[in-house]
Order: sequence, then C-alpha cells, then structure tokens
Amino acid sequence: METRILKAMGHMPEDSEVMELASKIISNGGLCAIPTETVYGLAGNALDPEASRKIYEAKGRPSDNPLIVHISDINDLNKIAVDIPESAYLLAEKFWPGPLTMILKKGSSVPKETTGGLDTVAVRMPSNRIAAEFISACGGFIAAPSANASGRPSCTEAKHVKEDLNGKIPLIIDGGRVGIGLESTIIDLTGEIPCLLRPGYIDLKVLRNILGKVDTDPALSGKESDAPPKAPGMKYRHYAPKGDLKIVSGKTDRVVSYINEKTSEAETNDVKAAVLCCSENATLYKCSLVSPAGSIYNEEEIARNLFSILREFDLNDVKLIYSEEFYTPEIGMAIMNRLVKAAGNDIIKV
Ligand code: TXA
Ligand code: MG
Repeated sequence: METRILKAMGHMPEDSEVMELASKIISNGGLCAIPTETVYGLAGNALDPEASRKIYEAKGRPSDNPLIVHISDINDLNKIAVDIPESAYLLAEKFWPGPLTMILKKGSSVPKETTGGLDTVAVRMPSNRIAAEFISACGGFIAAPSANASGRPSCTEAKHVKEDLNGKIPLIIDGGRVGIGLESTIIDLTGEIPCLLRPGYIDLKVLRNILGKVDTDPALSGKESDAPPKAPGMKYRHYAPKGDLKIVSGKTDRVVSYINEKTSEAETNDVKAAVLCCSENATLYKCSLVSPAGSIYNEEEIARNLFSILREFDLNDVKLIYSEEFYTPEIGMAIMNRLVKAAGNDIIKV
C-alpha cells in the first residue's frame, strides 16, 4: 500500500480536500495517522470492530491493550459512556478539549474490540484543530492509539509515523510538530476515588485541586513487585529506543563523571554511545554525541523533545545511551515515567 503524506493547517479552506479524502478512508473502514496536541495518533472508526482490528495489526500491538476513543463534541460523551459521574463533567469543563483521557463505563455502542475486551472506555477530546476537524468529518468517534509501532517512542512529527507505518496505512496527515510531545494524562473515574493511571501534561496537583482526593495507580511507582498497571498498555516495555538506555541518578558532578567514564570506555571499544541531558550540562560531557533535551527550567521543552531525541539515537545507530534524570516540578512525573519505561527500569545510582 502506498502511504501518502498530506499537509493540513487546521480549519483552513486548503484542508478540505485532505479532510474529504480522510473521511472517505475512515468511512470505508481504513486508517489515517493524525496530529494531536500530545502525539500523533493512528485513527480508525471507534465503532467499527474491523477498524480496531486493523489498528492493532498496523501497530503490531497486543489486542488486550485498549484504544482511546476521541470525540470532538461533549454532547457525544453519553453516546459512548454510561453512568458518567459529575467529576467527568467537571474535568471536561476545565480541560477539554485538551490532553486529558478519562476512563468511564462503556456504552453498548462501543465494540469490545476497541476496548480490548474491557467494559470501560477511555475517552479524550483533543484540542489540536486538525484532530478536531478530522474527528467531526469522520463521524465523531475515532479510536486512536499513539501512531508509533508498538514498543517504540511515540511520534511527535509526521516523519516519525512514516518511519514506523510506511506501507501499512494509506494516509498520514502532517500537521507539523506537536505542541506537548507526551501522551495524555489518564484518569480512571469508574471507582469510588478517581485514580491517575498515566501521568501527563495535566499533573496530579492540578487534578487534586479540582477533584480533592485522587489516588495514583500503585504500578506507577515502578516497583516490579506491585500489581499490574490498571492501564493495560503501561505494562509493556514502551517508548524504547533500539540502543541500551540507562538512567544515571545522583549529584550532578558524580553523574557527569560516571557518564564520561562509561562513554569513553564504550568509544574506546568502538561502541557507539550517546548522552541525553539538560542543556545546562551539555558542555560537561565528552561523548561524541550529546543531545540536550532542553533547559532544566523549561520542562515543556524537555517533554516536547524527548521522543524525537530517542528516535534520533536509533537513526544514528547508537548502541549505548546514558541519560540524566529530569525531575522537574510539574510534568516531571510524566517525563520520568516515559524515560524509566524506555530504559526498562535500568537506573544506576551514583
Ligand atoms: O495522548 C494520547 O492519549 C494519544 C493521542 C493519540 O490521543 N493516544 C495514546 O493512546 O497515547 P495509546 O493507545 O498509545 O495509549 C492509551 C493507553 C494505554 O496504556 C491503554 O492501555 C490505556 O490507555 N487505556 C485505554 N483504554 C483503557 C481502559 N478502558 N482502561 C484502562 N486503560 C485504558
Ligand atoms: Mg502508545
């Protein structure tokens, strides 16, 4: 299958041809990659079990890992979810459209293929203009996991989607680089107390300000012995570059000297190595490939660059990657959640 990449601007007359083509593909049960404000998504009709099956196949994703249903109109929420608690409307008013996904009880219109067999459904209303226009042009209910091949870093640019899905889908809508760069925050509203399942741009403090008590999925602590994560997708090794990624934790001077020692050892043995760090520390490293993700004072910049830097390491055939920790006050939790998963929990304390 030939994969076309077409640019769109969002609510512009020039987009109408792209939207027409996209809605034809989706209504015929096919798939399109689309930009959202978080990461690119691989979109299909959420109400069509066959489209969901195609999504799992294109990504190489296990079919017990449920998809998020994307809507563009709050009035569509009760067409796919039932017993919707007041808290969902509170959050929707505050954060939709935007990078927040809510887990609710599934309505009968949503096939089990879309929810990986669960009787709950994940729902999000993206704020990206192209995504919103696409969803309404395509009937209002779009299943869209991140558009990466299963296990790889999510896509923050159309060219990343091409790297992973070229030849597998007919259309990639190119809306440029995404704004946020990390997947949406996921909150489960089906229990007595709301529970954070995946950290994201909307952080825990903000959610607690609105809802009061919010639990966090114990699996987020990263300890192996804990119960499996409540978001099935969080159990898989994920976001991972092909090279061996290790996070080095400790005081800056110790981290720098440890990483310098290890990377020079690797380079002496002709092993291609790289360093992922904040821009403030970039000049302290001696490795031939140093990739600063952004200023430690600008966590949004770090979030936006993280996945594309991991992908660049792959393109450069890097075999060994040492990363600093990025604990920053707000989306720091989301950044470290992705980085620790990408490293397969390999954290070296110095
Ligand atoms: O920002 C995002 O959320 C992006 C863009 C494209 O919208 N999408 C995304 O989808 O990250 P995906 O499929 O890569 O991640 C969805 C996560 C998975 O970990 C999945 O297991 C979890 O949400 N999930 C989906 N439905 C669920 C449900 N009913 N209960 C618990 N977890 C659910
Ligand atoms: Mg994903």
